[in-house]
Parts: sequence; structure tokens; C-alpha cells
Amino acid sequence: MNKINSKNLIWVPWMRRALQLASLGEGETSPNPLVGAVVLDKEGHILGEGFHSRAGSPHAEIEAFAQAGNNAKGGTLIVTLEPCCHHGLTPPCTEAILKSQVQRVVVASNDPDKRVAGKGISTLKKAGLEVINGILKKEADYQNRAFRFRVKTGRPWGVLKWAMSLDGRTSLSNGESKWISSSKAREYVHQMRANSDAVIVGGGTVRMDDPLLTSRGIANSEPLRVVFTKSLNLPQQAKLWDTSVASTFIAYSSIAERNHLYQFPDGPKRIVLNKSEPIELLEALALKGCNRVLWECGPRLSSAAISSGCVQELAVVISPKLLGGEPFGTPLASLGFKSMEEVLLLNQVLLKRIDQDWLMQMCIPQFQD
Ligand SMILES: NC(=O)c1ccc[n+]([C@@H]2O[C@H](COP(=O)([O-])OP(=O)(O)OC[C@H]3O[C@@H](n4cnc5c(N)ncnc54)[C@H](OP(=O)(O)O)[C@@H]3O)[C@@H](O)[C@H]2O)c1
Ligand SMILES: [Zn+2]
Repeated sequence: MNKINSKNLIWVPWMRRALQLASLGEGETSPNPLVGAVVLDKEGHILGEGFHSRAGSPHAEIEAFAQAGNNAKGGTLIVTLEPCCHHGLTPPCTEAILKSQVQRVVVASNDPDKRVAGKGISTLKKAGLEVINGILKKEADYQNRAFRFRVKTGRPWGVLKWAMSLDGRTSLSNGESKWISSSKAREYVHQMRANSDAVIVGGGTVRMDDPLLTSRGIANSEPLRVVFTKSLNLPQQAKLWDTSVASTFIAYSSIAERNHLYQFPDGPKRIVLNKSEPIELLEALALKGCNRVLWECGPRLSSAAISSGCVQELAVVISPKLLGGEPFGTPLASLGFKSMEEVLLLNQVLLKRIDQDWLMQMCIPQFQD
């Protein structure tokens, strides 16, 4: 836990504002991080604000300087992530910072990207600027947990969502599951999709539910929709095959292709894997620029995703209904531990009432390194 020097506490409210600005890019910036920035003049009055809105668009610092005009000399830049110092899709922000002649840069956290990783801050220090690092670091790292995880592991951050009855069922024994949760809770899930880069379901859910899996227009760019199948036993007609609303990928192994003469529908693209392992799929999605994926599958793929360490966070909607039945439709089918030492411990990050339902969001700390 890094302690903030008390004289630096004055930057905390400004950093909070910068974090708020950064969040405006949620779901749109991948593979880039969320970043927000504020520029103050030398008296501490606000001159400009900015955030990174999507990969390829100007970085947050550049947006904030554009608003500030030529008045930043001697002032302060507050930014949620270490400024970049390399030529990516846009020129280095360190150059723009030096050109602006601010005298101080306040940063929340280092950029884990190898091309930056401390070099952005050292460039500014070498040029004689005061750099204060670590203001609201914990909050900033949490906000960018998906980006940081993807940079560290080469796999996107996985969020597994399910909706269940109070007695822990995700469907009736005949497979019907529409709708366990309220329409308001389902709207919340549309928002979760908008904040994700891809939504993944298994073949079982496509055959049973024929889902659409879009954010219903909340996202500027809809997340990729991914159907993960081992058998290629998929219907010829499905809502997901209409790619006029969002892209769809069918992910399968080359073994399935050899064994199955599946007539691929026209719309979806293909991801061919060696084996049908969740990790392999996630590595392929990271290469497509995904920082965060939302697993919206049924019990079988959910178990496989959790047991292979592909889920870092859970979002569970609990609905005040009793579905009953013999053990069936429980969220994690085959995932069963044999001793209490093995079970997964969760950290609760959110408990929220949505209409008559409850949403619990939890992290799985064990799968975060
Ligand atoms: N309440 C909820 O939140 C919720 C959400 C989603 C689904 N559901 C319900 O869940 C039921 C479907 O359950 P399900 O378990 O069949 O759905 P699923 O988990 O979405 O699909 C399972 C399928 O995933 C594919 N798969 C690919 N790689 C896999 C791997 N490594 N391990 C396991 N599976 C892999 C296989 O497809 P192939 O068979 O094509 O090879 C497998 O049969 C439906 O009744 C649906 O309504 C409920
Ligand atoms: Zn930059």
C-alpha cells in the first residue's frame, strides 16, 4: 500500500475527476487502457479536461491540452496513467507535455506496457519536470484491471455472468431459462456487454436460447459475439448469424472441422483452435484487441472457464424465484471440489438491488496473477 505524502493530498480530488473522465471510455478503448486527464494553470484553475475515447484517437493528455490552449505554461497535468513515450498510432504524449511547458505532472499509476513501463515518467523527470506518482493508484489500477491483466498475461480479463433463482438454478429441467431475472437486471447486463470487448457463449446456449447478445445500442461499437463449440453441432438459423448488428465468431477446433461437415452460415467469421480450451480462445481474442470478455454461457462452459483460470470476476443476478427440481441447472455443472481447502474464495466488490433482483459482483483473487 503506497502512502501519499500529505502535501500531495491536494491532488486527490483532481485525480478523482480524471478517473471519472477516464471511465467515459469504458468498453471502447481496447486494446488501449482507460485514461483521463485534467490540465490546471499555475494558480490551480482548471484549463482543460480529456479522456481516451478509442484506440487510434488522441490520448487523454492531448485532448486536455487541446482544451487548455496555450495557457498551460507553469501549470499541472493530472493523468490517471503514466504518459506514453513511444510512437504508437499517435505521437508520444511526453512530447506534447514538454511542449505545453507545464511544470508538474501528477500520475496515478505506471503503465505496464513494456514500451512505456517507467520510461514515460523518467523522460519527464530528466526534462526537469516535477513528477508525483501514486495518487489514487489503487483506484486507477482497479479501473484498468482488464488492460493490466491482458498486458501481464496475454489473456483478457474474464467476467462470468449468470442469473439464477434463489434456489440456485440457472434453468428449468427442460432447459428453459427465459427469463429468470427481471427486465431491469437484463438492461444492466446490456450495459455489462457494452463495457466488454467480446461476449462468449457455448454451443449449448445457442441451441437452447438463440440469444442476440448485443448491448441493444448502448455501446458505440458492439462487442464481438463468440460461439464456442467443440462439436460444430450448431443450428443453420440463429440470431447470432445475422452480423448486420454485430460481428460473430464461431470458435472451434480443427478436430471438429474434420469430423463434422458443418455448413457454415454466411455471416460469422471463424476462429480455428488446436483444442477447445478456454485459454486458447482467450489468447486468440487478446490478439483481436480484447481486454475484457463476458462469459454468458451455461453451466458446462462456465465450469470449464472457471477451472482453467479464465474467470477473474463473477457477476451473479439472484432472483426471488424458486425453480426447484433435482440437482439440475446449477451454475457450475461439473466443477466440484473435494475439500474445503480447494474451494474458490471470493471478494465481494458490489451488492446492488436491481428492481426485485440482487446483483452480486465478486472477484476471484486466486486467478488474478
Ligand atoms: N441463467 C443463465 O444465466 C444462463 C446463461 C446461459 C445459459 N443458460 C442455460 O444453460 C443451458 C445450456 O447449458 P450448457 O451448459 O449446455 O451451455 P453452454 O455452457 O453455453 O454450452 C456448452 C457447450 O459449450 C461448448 N464448449 C466449447 N468448449 C468447451 C469446453 N472446453 N468445455 C465445455 N464446453 C465447451 C460445447 O458446445 P458444443 O456442444 O456445440 O460442442 C458445450 O456443449 C440452457 O438451458 C440455457 O438456457 C442459462
Ligand atoms: Zn499517450
